[in-house]
Amino acid sequence: MKPWSVDVAEARFRCLEVAAERRTPSLAEDVERGFAARPRSLPPKYFYDAAGSALFEAICRTREYYPSRAEAGLLERYADAIVEAAAPAHILEFGSGSSRKTRYLLDACERRDRHVQYWPFDVCEAMLFEAGGGLIQRYPWLRVNALRGDYLAGLAHLPRFRGAVLYAFLGGTVGNFAPAASRAFIREIAKLMRPGDCLLLGADRVKAPELIEAAYNDAEGVTARFNLNLLNVLNRELGADFDTTGFEHRAFYNRTARQIEMYLLSRRDQKVRVPALNRNYPFARGEAMLTEISRKFDAEALEALVSEAGLRIRRHFEGGEQLFSLVLAER
Ligand code: SAH
Ligand code: TRP
Repeated sequence: MKPWSVDVAEARFRCLEVAAERRTPSLAEDVERGFAARPRSLPPKYFYDAAGSALFEAICRTREYYPSRAEAGLLERYADAIVEAAAPAHILEFGSGSSRKTRYLLDACERRDRHVQYWPFDVCEAMLFEAGGGLIQRYPWLRVNALRGDYLAGLAHLPRFRGAVLYAFLGGTVGNFAPAASRAFIREIAKLMRPGDCLLLGADRVKAPELIEAAYNDAEGVTARFNLNLLNVLNRELGADFDTTGFEHRAFYNRTARQIEMYLLSRRDQKVRVPALNRNYPFARGEAMLTEISRKFDAEALEALVSEAGLRIRRHFEGGEQLFSLVLAER
């Protein structure tokens, strides 16, 4: 790992680049492969440029997007119990984004004079800086060591920690992986963990399809803008000429697979040029490109995911309504 940016503000914030353990496909390779498949698809990490991360925050503020509020409610209520049980010296969070909900954990640490170091791990550098800056202001005792990288490229090059680590993976992001990939990722985290370390995993629950569907089809159209922003990323990074008005957002709940499937639908027959690949891609009217899945779990499936990784479940917080789950597990 090499230092990425100079320390700012009393050196309590720094940003490090996490070296990939495995080679991962470039955006161009992902497009080439994803556009050759039917339906076409792309990995979700490309949503999160600076604009995409800001749009995701806006999604969390929409009336319909219940997961974020439900998880925040659980964290508010149980942060003391979690910090008490995990007794962390470090909190490392995968896909930390704005770290908004993590503040409940940091508040609980503060109440105990437990001066943890915080290691937010995200692909989006802009969001790491924004979130980190806010955190060191709010918590004068806190050190933030931001980790910039792709957590799917392997975890072998994460720092070695002295003292107990609380690994957090919140937001239901684990549901954005296909089943095999989510099992592999939780197993990879489990392999990192030493005795005394804990994992706090947040996952969205199976519930009334109307409620789930509404969360990914907010009336203001923020989710639609988030989905369409993927095309801006392709235009900027690959010189593509996607016309964002030529596509529309579509999300529906697949009851059999228990997942939201999010697509971009071509509104007309059109051809898109991708200079970085020196290719043209035809899109037929009504053709759907899969941009994201978001799986929903029942309590058993979630506990199985954690147990199969060799972890022991210490607590399962789900609140009265069982809208969302937080599982605390140890090695
Ligand atoms: N945990 C936050 C954000 C969830 S959105 C919350 O609950 O509100 C998912 C986050 O994961 C985004 O910040 C995105 O930038 C990050 N992310 C997505 N894929 C990633 C990858 N492969 N490696 C690292 N971070 C990733
Ligand atoms: N982890 C979030 C989820 O599955 C990601 C997300 C929320 C999302 N809304 C979205 C991803 C809309 C793409 C589009 O709920």
